[in-house]
Amino acid sequence: MIIAVDGPTASGKGTIARALAEHFRLPVLDTGLLYRAVGYQTQLDHGDADNAADALAACDFPDSLLDDPALRYETTGGLASRVSVHPQVRAALFQRQVDFANQPGGAILDGRDIGTVIAPHADAKLFVTASADVRAHRRHAEMLGRGVDVTFDAVLADVHARDARDTGRADAPLLRAPDAMLLDNSDMPRDAAIAAAIAFVEARR
Ligand code: C5P
Repeated sequence: MIIAVDGPTASGKGTIARALAEHFRLPVLDTGLLYRAVGYQTQLDHGDADNAADALAACDFPDSLLDDPALRYETTGGLASRVSVHPQVRAALFQRQVDFANQPGGAILDGRDIGTVIAPHADAKLFVTASADVRAHRRHAEMLGRGVDVTFDAVLADVHARDARDTGRADAPLLRAPDAMLLDNSDMPRDAAIAAAIAFVEARR
């Protein structure tokens, strides 16, 4: 069984993907981490992340980079969304994701284009979202909890910028696949969203 979980930044898609992985005992790949690694490596090598050729060269990042806590930083998410607009970068990361999806026994992937590009044949697709305001509030609280000194307005501006870049790019934009379940959790507690996702996947087995 292949499960595709897509959605915008801070929508809770990672939480839902991990909960599904535990429930259905399937391996899970956070594909955002691959783009984060490329963005981080490009910035490290060249001091900015906007050049397509530099970003393509960074797709050869060492596997150990995926464990680097720096990939989780907000700033790295911004770098990831910059390099992810380049079709060359998306092509370079394509096969790795397809191979993960097609491993025997099944898999769960979360990202932006899993249900549309990486695994259009997935058995169950979810599009996880929440209003920009709710997503920014959640991210702001989480950042304050980690001791990051940031204003709500700055977080909201970042959420809007990431949304604009992810939905506006020409290649594999963030898009709900027509056959994806829309899971808008703006007014839903976390456990209810997880339960809804599990029930949807169960029904597709
Ligand atoms: O999901 P996460 O916030 O870690 O992703 C970081 C960035 O990587 C996204 O804003 C998006 O631009 C890019 N990305 C993508 N396609 C994916 C996963 C992430 O373009 N499948």
